[in-house]
Amino acid sequence: MKAIVVTGQAAGTAGMKLVERPRPQAAINDVVVQVHASGFVGTELAWPSTWADRLDRDRTPSIPGHELAGVVTALGYGTTGLSVGQRVFGLADWYRNGTLAEYVAVEARNLAPLPGDVDFTVGASLPISGLTAWQGLFEHGRLRAGQSVIAQGAAGAVGSMVTQLAREAGAYVIGTGRAADRQKALDFGAQEFVDLENDALEDVGGVDLVFDLIGGDIGKRSARLVRAGGTLVSIVGPSEARPADGLAVDFVVESDRAQLGEIVQRVRDGRLRTNIGTVSTLDDAVAAFNQTKRINGKTIIRVRP
Ligand SMILES: NC(=O)c1ccc[n+]([C@@H]2O[C@H](COP(=O)([O-])OP(=O)(O)OC[C@H]3O[C@@H](n4cnc5c(N)ncnc54)[C@H](OP(=O)(O)O)[C@@H]3O)[C@@H](O)[C@H]2O)c1
Repeated sequence: MKAIVVTGQAAGTAGMKLVERPRPQAAINDVVVQVHASGFVGTELAWPSTWADRLDRDRTPSIPGHELAGVVTALGYGTTGLSVGQRVFGLADWYRNGTLAEYVAVEARNLAPLPGDVDFTVGASLPISGLTAWQGLFEHGRLRAGQSVIAQGAAGAVGSMVTQLAREAGAYVIGTGRAADRQKALDFGAQEFVDLENDALEDVGGVDLVFDLIGGDIGKRSARLVRAGGTLVSIVGPSEARPADGLAVDFVVESDRAQLGEIVQRVRDGRLRTNIGTVSTLDDAVAAFNQTKRINGKTIIRVRP
């Protein structure tokens, strides 16, 4: 099969290569999926799991990409809940070969059925951004109707999902980002926008939940904006500052079949819009990852045109 591999961390995306690799086998509880579309997050190349297995042994050249939409072609021993020929989408294991390939082996529990009226490109754009927003708002942030939320990077992949899901849940949403992102954030449902390059974030006052995906100085300043009893949720590691009288939570997204179902249902009935910035073929993907133009939104690789 065709697959993209990474060879060394120093080389970054410039060191990626399109190569021939053997098709994966389905291990116990796995399915093999013929990948139709795959999602790639540029920061993957900084994650230890891209380079090493769970025992920290080198696993290069490894296949990156963790989001997929495709069709099940084989079932491993003991695998239940999915069948050969079924359309699926979901999240592949961080520590195994990923989805920038024509086939991938994934534990069945990490996948959900993809309804026939949802395109594979859309399906592959939802797992990381949708699940991260869902888990950050509702599991870790315990968001309730009537609360206020700062959605950092609201025009980006995760931030646009945070903005939409928080609005739907009845929250008041203040989006942030660069000056050029104002309209996009408002279009996703933010009721106010803070241009982090020119406005003072502190002018917003206190909120019940800050969803931070920028970190550094913005993460520290985010902590000070959390009201008593509120929560700072970070997806870029522990914040250097904590709310004076609130919780600070950092987490890594996990796959969840029921949540994937909730997310895709919202896409089907028009309550949730995905945020796709670039679509390329597998043959053109390495060039697309190395383009210097700013990409806003998800990068999707249409593996099977
Ligand atoms: N822990 C987890 O489970 C988890 C899950 C998903 C993502 N993440 C992490 O979360 C981060 C965001 O992911 P994403 O996919 O949403 O990325 P993205 O699509 O690039 O969105 C980030 C947005 O924030 C903006 N932004 C970043 N720094 C900024 C700054 N200093 N001032 C103003 N705007 C700024 C970006 O603008 P520019 O593009 O112009 O910088 C972009 O619009 C990444 O680091 C990713 O690795 C973690």
